[in-house]
Amino acid sequence: MTSLRQIYVPPEGPPRERPHPGIYASMGEANIFLLLSDFYRELELSSIRHMFPGDMQEASKKSAAFFVFLLGGPPLYQERYGAPMMRQRHMPFPIDESARRCWLDCFEKVLERADEKYGFPSEHMESFKGFLDQFSAWMVNKRT
Ligand code: HEM
Repeated sequence: MTSLRQIYVPPEGPPRERPHPGIYASMGEANIFLLLSDFYRELELSSIRHMFPGDMQEASKKSAAFFVFLLGGPPLYQERYGAPMMRQRHMPFPIDESARRCWLDCFEKVLERADEKYGFPSEHMESFKGFLDQFSAWMVNKRT
């Protein structure tokens, strides 16, 4: 059970739009798994590392499955782990604005030269970053 604490609910709600499905079409599943694997390597060096399980590469695969679907691919996450319910799944971890900043900074690093590294379509980068900004704001459950 989640410990008794005041849960913060961001008034903006969840993002209204999904990222462009052309992202999956251009990257494919293997590149998305590679991107998330590199992202979890960044998280491993970050100040929020303690929130995550010991095996970061194993953990990265869950996120990768979710991103495959999010970016326009098949529903891998749902097939393997069930309904996403992402805000609910993040509830055990107190996520405040500074944890969100740290998470976003790690993502920002792996997205540098993502076109060369993972075949990320540059024309969708700006809107994708906008989506991460909104989705991560929706994961915040603790007021700073
Ligand atoms: C706002 C900052 C965020 C923090 C601090 C954070 C932190 C975490 C933590 C601690 C876990 C649990 C790791 C585990 O037990 O395997 C997790 C899981 C996960 N996160 Fe986040 N997260 C954030 C935002 C996001 C966003 C924006 C997304 C997607 C767009 C996302 C997608 C996922 C997925 C798919 C999982 C695996 C859920 C599961 O099946 O257990 N997270 N996150």
